[in-house]
Amino acid sequence: MSTTEAKVNRPLRELDEWDGFVEGRYKQAKSKEEFRQYDATATPGVAEFYRLNHEYQTVDYVLQKEKQYFGLNKGLKTVWEAADFLNTLVDDSDPDTDLTQIEHLLQTSEAIRSDNHPRWMVLTGFLHDLGKCLCLYGEPQWGVVGDTFPVGCAWSPDIVFSEDFARNPDRNVPEYQTRYGIYEPNCGLENVHMSFGHDGYIAEVMKPYLRDEALYMLRFHSFYPWHKHGAYDYLSNDKDRAMLSWVLKFNQYDLYSKGHSKPDLNRLKPYYDDLFAEFLPEKLAW
Ligand SMILES: [Fe+2]
Ligand SMILES: [Fe+2]
Repeated sequence: MSTTEAKVNRPLRELDEWDGFVEGRYKQAKSKEEFRQYDATATPGVAEFYRLNHEYQTVDYVLQKEKQYFGLNKGLKTVWEAADFLNTLVDDSDPDTDLTQIEHLLQTSEAIRSDNHPRWMVLTGFLHDLGKCLCLYGEPQWGVVGDTFPVGCAWSPDIVFSEDFARNPDRNVPEYQTRYGIYEPNCGLENVHMSFGHDGYIAEVMKPYLRDEALYMLRFHSFYPWHKHGAYDYLSNDKDRAMLSWVLKFNQYDLYSKGHSKPDLNRLKPYYDDLFAEFLPEKLAW
């Protein structure tokens, strides 16, 4: 690996660390006290990641990133091209134990498939992290992964490292610090601006083609305070509550634990060619 490649590749390995941390935190801890203890044992890298994420994810930042990316003006790509593009970020320093990004996608989708879930859900499993290509567009890690939360209203204490919001400039905007902030009660999560990251971006890319259940899995799979902790119910509406069970169903397959066998891309490719063709145009706007 060249030095340049090493520099580019290194961040993606860490990306999975942040997501793995969040997955582990919400799986293992139940009470607020347990959460605090789990956070306290985080590696300095994880703590630093959330310090940056919570300081810089402001209303202004989110609106600017939505404007920059939700117009989908980064070119046309097939799903395989997008997956190959994402895979260029993989760190191969420990190829025996670390999964590539495509392998993580396939592991997720194959686990969904082997439990006989509908084909659209298998597809969603494959697509769910393709938005991490934001890193390749130059976005910082704290703007791509980690758990997500609404901006423009009071931060829930259920968000990991919520004390880090003390440094967020939105702290000084009274309108953003009330329970509902810039939103109406029970306005529905689709009307809420979430902290910017790979979830919202991939949901925008797939919005014209997939059913609501799939779009909720894409858009909210990192919204742990909501789907694992019941936070922000006062912004949710009946549709969100109906979709929650699908998000939870999806999330049990989005695991970062190592040690699973690697999916065989060559063997699986024909199945996925058919699956993509069933739901998506050949080229998608990114
Ligand atoms: Fe993800
Ligand atoms: Fe994932």
